[in-house]
Amino acid sequence: MGKKLLLANDHIPGIQSYEVYRSNGGYQSVEKALKNLKPEDIVEEVKKSGLRGRGGAGFPTGMKWSFLAKPEGVPRYLVCNADESEPGTFKDRYLMSRIPHLLVEGMITSSYALGANTSYIYIRGEYYYVAQILEKAIAEAYQNGWLGQNILGTGYHLDLYVQVGGGAYICGEETALLESLEGKRGNPRIKPPFPAIAGLYGCPTVVNNVETIAAVVPIVNEGGDSYAAIGIGKSTGTKLISASGHIKKPGVYEIEMGITVEEFIYSDEYCGGILNDKKLKAVVAGGSSVPILPADKILTTPTGEKRLMSYESLAEGGFASGTMLGSGGFIVMDENTSIVENLYTFTRFYHHESCGQCSPCREGTAWMEKLLHKILDGHGTLADVDLLWEIQSKIEGNTICPLGDAAAWPVASAIRHFRAEFESFVGSSTAKHAIH
Ligand SMILES: Cc1cc2nc3c(=O)[nH]c(=O)nc-3n(C[C@H](O)[C@H](O)[C@H](O)COP(=O)(O)O)c2cc1C
Repeated sequence: MGKKLLLANDHIPGIQSYEVYRSNGGYQSVEKALKNLKPEDIVEEVKKSGLRGRGGAGFPTGMKWSFLAKPEGVPRYLVCNADESEPGTFKDRYLMSRIPHLLVEGMITSSYALGANTSYIYIRGEYYYVAQILEKAIAEAYQNGWLGQNILGTGYHLDLYVQVGGGAYICGEETALLESLEGKRGNPRIKPPFPAIAGLYGCPTVVNNVETIAAVVPIVNEGGDSYAAIGIGKSTGTKLISASGHIKKPGVYEIEMGITVEEFIYSDEYCGGILNDKKLKAVVAGGSSVPILPADKILTTPTGEKRLMSYESLAEGGFASGTMLGSGGFIVMDENTSIVENLYTFTRFYHHESCGQCSPCREGTAWMEKLLHKILDGHGTLADVDLLWEIQSKIEGNTICPLGDAAAWPVASAIRHFRAEFESFVGSSTAKHAIH
């Protein structure tokens, strides 16, 4: 059994409540931090741990924290990104609804480390019931003296708020999130300045994913070195994986970084193999944005090694034959899956969610959706497949935020690895007429 740091206690009945959470070691990291550690000591431990942001980009958390500007007399903010709208990713929902106090505890310890006295959890509108669970946990934390004025008699004070968004994918992009939190339309900002310099209300701000903030709890409790001892290379610690698609046991799994992809898909501890014992066709390993890989390439690196569940191993081979760990949304497709139909679903999503600020993304996602519809409907030509390729290549890297890349990469990788499947739809009798 792999080591569990975040979901070690998720099976305990009543763990949602303050009493049960506390009696199982909860809030120890706050005690340790506030009573024995200086804020900079915690930043140091987080650096030592090698923790990388779990929201998708994998940026080193300790480094991000150390960039936070500290001008005299200006408030600093910690904002937790609980927008979780990437198709295939649902690990934050599980963590927040199952062990809400773990996030509250992580928010307090992290806010103390960053010198924030007001912090926010920004959560997508569709998770309203989860927001209510968090509100209850926060109220319990106030009642028990973990939030508010003079926490544990140390003079440190913190107020923690939950803000429910309107349910837009773009509000997961950190600067769009900050705009939305300020009460405006969630359009991404042009960077620089980065949030660490000018974030919420123009003040220095750290935005971190739910899982990143929760991981600060074991890092403070056990020490950064002990966290870094788990995993492989620069992929340290554990990672929550949302596993879905054609597998026997879909769900949220906490893995030690560095297990093989094969073990994750086929072992009974995790996905339990392909549903109905069919053949594996393809995997989208890190949420809908990351390149799709065919079975041979997801299981094996270009040098013939077994592919590992780590940032580095999944990326081996670049975009020609690799992918990304992203947010850990692991979507498994069996031999009967239509890659083109699946791509159409993803592309419709990105078109719908484009904020419209940048023309390559606004227009490009619309064109890609139209072309895919045409191809699936049996009216496409080979030139349409080439045009699709060209459009995605014009979006990537040409937009204010990476939503454009997120829309382009699935198209590029699907054509790269499954071109024959597109061609089989072009003017052929296998074309689908029932497009949902
Ligand atoms: C379109 C888009 C959507 C995103 N959605 C999320 C999200 O739902 N949750 C999240 O944590 N990060 C999301 N991100 C990444 C954030 O911009 C940011 O990198 C992240 O919150 C930083 O936290 P981390 O360093 O802890 O990963 C998204 C990025 C983009 C471009």
